[in-house]
Amino acid sequence: MADKKAVRNVVDDEIYQLSRPPEANGMIERRLRRSYVDDSVVVSPVGIILSEWQDERNAMTVSSFSEVAHFPTTLWVSIARTSYTHHLVQTSRRFTIVVLDDTQGPIAEACGTASGRTVNKCRDLNLYHGPEGELFMKDSFASAACRVRNSRPLGAHTLFIADILSGELETRRNIRRHLLTTDLV
Ligand SMILES: Cc1cc2nc3c(=O)[nH]c(=O)nc-3n(C[C@H](O)[C@H](O)[C@H](O)COP(=O)(O)O)c2cc1C
Repeated sequence: MADKKAVRNVVDDEIYQLSRPPEANGMIERRLRRSYVDDSVVVSPVGIILSEWQDERNAMTVSSFSEVAHFPTTLWVSIARTSYTHHLVQTSRRFTIVVLDDTQGPIAEACGTASGRTVNKCRDLNLYHGPEGELFMKDSFASAACRVRNSRPLGAHTLFIADILSGELETRRNIRRHLLTTDLV
């Protein structure tokens, strides 16, 4: 029993502070960001959300996402309200989720430890547009371009449910090992 780590719901007492402007929340943001790795209780893949609105573009690491159903073909993702990605997804109602494999820890680290408000995280990624204008990343295991169908506030996050419009799968890659329990711990 003594080895067990108490899992505390840190969200409630931090919502108040997160309602301050993002610049004032540097320390809290860093804590929350680290909590995606240290406080995870369910193993999940790690991916990045690509978002774009007019001439703004961003990439953010996520681990709180999964498929909802194959009919309709939908997935959900939970995005912190303070993130730049949240602003871009709320505005454009579109995003692409790229599932990373176990060789792509550095991408997860780079896109999960700085905000696109201050750093151009897309500069070092090999991004391109698909036939319908969807944003994709070369050298990724799987990508799904999505349109938001529904969203719900959830404490410090918004839960987005989105239709998968198109996708790409790289058959030479796989996700044998989850980044969250290997390279990022
Ligand atoms: C492994 C890992 C998983 C993460 N998962 C999520 C997540 O599911 N949802 C989220 O809002 N932030 C998540 N984050 C934190 C964001 O990636 C981080 O706050 C990022 O700097 C926000 O970028 P942006 O402001 O450019 O959108 C995660 C970070 C890491 C390192």
